[in-house]
Amino acid sequence: MKRGRWILPGDSAARLIDGVGLAKLIRGEIAADVAVLRGSGVTPGLTVVLVGDDAASAVYVGAKEKASREAGMAGETIRLPSATTQAQLLALVEQLNADASVHGILVQMPLPSHIDPDTVIRHIDPAKDVDGFHPINVGKLLIGHTDGFAPCTPSGVQRMLTHYGVETRGADCVVIGRSTIVGKPMAALMVQAGAGADATVTICHSRTRNLGDHTRRADILIVAAGRPRMVTADMVKPGAVVIDVGMNRIPDASTKSGTRLVGDVDFEGVRQVASLITPVPGGVGPMTIAMLLRNTVRSAQRTLVA
Ligand code: GUN
Repeated sequence: MKRGRWILPGDSAARLIDGVGLAKLIRGEIAADVAVLRGSGVTPGLTVVLVGDDAASAVYVGAKEKASREAGMAGETIRLPSATTQAQLLALVEQLNADASVHGILVQMPLPSHIDPDTVIRHIDPAKDVDGFHPINVGKLLIGHTDGFAPCTPSGVQRMLTHYGVETRGADCVVIGRSTIVGKPMAALMVQAGAGADATVTICHSRTRNLGDHTRRADILIVAAGRPRMVTADMVKPGAVVIDVGMNRIPDASTKSGTRLVGDVDFEGVRQVASLITPVPGGVGPMTIAMLLRNTVRSAQRTLVA
């Protein structure tokens, strides 16, 4: 049975996208780029700033530092107490902006409630904003200028699609979620002219009417809504490519911790309909750190040609 012009699932379940394996491949490429840079006397430096003691943030930050060190970069984490004032944090950012050994600055979100995240992001030198959150980089992404930084998670999703040979040109791409970190930049990447893009993009969100009418038209469905298993098999076109950006912890009495990580997609149901699908965990998650390292290396490379 022919199911559209996408990769055919036949009677079996969808092929899985292996985010762990692809991230490893990219990290290998990055390590090679780092070795070249070091040969030119530049060691790419990534400084992560963590304010407060949010447990999940501490885990993410530890993973970022470890990955940057493994790639041969100078990875440093600055941990500040939750009572740190906004003025103190801004002073630190300015110090990092002026430090030539620092090529990437990442202030881990969320910040304590007395600190305004937008003010902090605007203080980061856009040339070191490897998160791609500064308005200059957001603007460059929307215009299609490639000399900025695109946010890591959407870049990782795009890289997955190209790596797996998904035809994006002219494809109907539906993004669920309009966050500044994922949904909006994801749509901006996919709508650009060029390889891995050229898609017809629809952004859906919590106020979208008849969500299924949109998602059922999607050749590529990217879900970043933050709602556990909200996309069910009946919402997916047979043969579609489904990318799940969700990371939700739900109660599960059968596990030791009493919880389990699930995505925004009902994986077991949707994999029977899709042609290609990302698991959670092991899908998009590992790609985010790989793209953060990629952005940091790019920043260091730009200091050589500048
Ligand atoms: N918190 C969760 N994800 C991210 C991210 O990609 N960047 C930053 N700075 N904080 C985060």
